[in-house]
Amino acid sequence: MGQLRLGVLISGTGRTLANLLRAATTGDIPAQVCLVVSSRRDAPGNEIAREHGVPLVVVDARDVRGVEAFSRAVYQALDRYRVDLVAMAGFLRRLSIRPDYVGRIMNIHPSLLPLFGGKGMYGQRVHQAVLAAGVKVSGCTVHFVDEEYDAGPIILQSCVPVLEDDTPESLAARVFAEECRLYPEAIRLYAAGCLRIEGKRVRVLPVPSRAGIQEG
Ligand code: GRF
Repeated sequence: MGQLRLGVLISGTGRTLANLLRAATTGDIPAQVCLVVSSRRDAPGNEIAREHGVPLVVVDARDVRGVEAFSRAVYQALDRYRVDLVAMAGFLRRLSIRPDYVGRIMNIHPSLLPLFGGKGMYGQRVHQAVLAAGVKVSGCTVHFVDEEYDAGPIILQSCVPVLEDDTPESLAARVFAEECRLYPEAIRLYAAGCLRIEGKRVRVLPVPSRAGIQEG
């Protein structure tokens, strides 16, 4: 596959969107962000899409009643922009998964799933729960999205230490720095055709080497 057409779904600050835009611009991912869908008309991330000249479709969950109607409106936008892969980026709404999008929607979560995930577990709540549990490592998870919150097949995970003096904010910052590396890596693997879903597991196939390919 050449350039992926990436659709990014946001609800909040859009820091993940900014990272994906950076990765697309620098060639860190073989993708073009061709659409941003926001579930809030007042999400600060909407401005990031506008600043980058990326088409923005707002499907405000307060105007559209019910998961099915909301999901239909989101897919209408994704279809219109012929999106290959969807990256949820701080997206806080339930999306029902249309059959032709199974295995084409990713999410990133700021913990080592299946721990500290599920409904209501987002933002600082995740890091507060991690600190309260007293675990010594945390991290982030990129996974394919299915009908359940934070429960789809796991693509990649990465660990960070939990330090003695951590606050939810300091831990969140360490995890987020790792997210900025991990999400592009998962997208590169997808683009290279290296992710195979086998039930709940994702087999990560070796990236074909360029050795032996004659250039020029
Ligand atoms: C991060 O915690 C990420 O893991 C989760 O949303 C947060 C980022 O939101 N999916 P945003 O990109 O700052 O809006």
